[in-house]
Amino acid sequence: MQVVVSGIRPTGKLHLGNYFGAVRNFLEMQEKYRSYFFIADIHSLTTHPTPQDLHGNVKQVLAEYLAMGLDPAKCALFIQSDVPEIPELYTYMNMNAYLGELERSASFKDKVRAHKDNVNAGLLTYPVLMAVDILIHKADFVPVGKDQEQHLEMTRQFGNRFNRMYNAQVFPEPQAYSSTGELVKVPGLTGQGKMSKSGGEADAIFFDDDDTVTRKKIMRAVTDSGPTEPNAPKSEEVQNLFELLKLVSTTDTIEHFENSYADCSIRYGDLKKQLAEDMLKFIAPIRERIREVKNDSAYLSKSAQIGAEKARESASATLKEVREIIGFRKFY
Ligand code: TYM
Repeated sequence: MQVVVSGIRPTGKLHLGNYFGAVRNFLEMQEKYRSYFFIADIHSLTTHPTPQDLHGNVKQVLAEYLAMGLDPAKCALFIQSDVPEIPELYTYMNMNAYLGELERSASFKDKVRAHKDNVNAGLLTYPVLMAVDILIHKADFVPVGKDQEQHLEMTRQFGNRFNRMYNAQVFPEPQAYSSTGELVKVPGLTGQGKMSKSGGEADAIFFDDDDTVTRKKIMRAVTDSGPTEPNAPKSEEVQNLFELLKLVSTTDTIEHFENSYADCSIRYGDLKKQLAEDMLKFIAPIRERIREVKNDSAYLSKSAQIGAEKARESASATLKEVREIIGFRKFY
């Protein structure tokens, strides 16, 4: 059976981009494949969270995964730091990852620009750790958003390099996956680029926010001064609102606003009001479930435990093979 691996960094609450870029695919894939979905808590150490924040954020993402429909009976749902085989393989793979290629990674360059005072080695070798997450289960598919495309390319490079170096076929070539055929990029509300936590509170729509907060964010989303001639092209800000509408509204609603944009009768306030209502209809049941699951400690701990066992079983089999191939052979 083909294998699927994907993860999310625990940096707070999950947003709409995480859902449509990643989790929506997880739900479909857990039915068909041997699936490993995890919380990338080791990755999140690059930003130095306090122990309380780290633990709280891991719990939040675990509850959100479960509330969104990940089923511990169907997939391995685990926490990265529960699998010590991952940091061990990371050590080995770091020996064959080169400074030049790591420095050229777009996400590294972004992070260096944004946090000049915290350019740590973990940030530089972040793509190696991510490759290990994927390679350690010999994944075929990796459901991710568009922003992770380059990391997948690096994963293939590291896996192939290992295979070549030791003349062994250990790692298959994993492919990024999206059920829509194209990798998804959900835009943010501030009109610039993808929705992200680092874009500030106003940029992202979080599942665990109250209705009033979400409504306010959408009503404040950046727009322009309106179309001035029929069938004018849309500005990025307005295009983004239409993109969000496409995720949660009916085709009739989308068509209505497309038409009113085309004939210049659109009022952005109406568009935002409708978007907010449709968004809340989609989010509210998931949010209620998140809050239930977060209070169910027994369910959280049982799920994490079962997931860790499944992930370790697969990871330790690969690690055993890798150790042999590298030449770590027992004398006793
Ligand atoms: P992270 O935690 O930034 O994001 C988690 C997932 O959400 C997707 N995503 C988006 N998709 C579409 N539009 C957006 N605006 C948007 N924002 C986030 C991301 O593409 C991702 O799929 N390095 C990874 C975590 C990771 C991982 C892995 C993923 C670690 N190891 C192994 C896959 C396989 C990251 O930082 O994602």
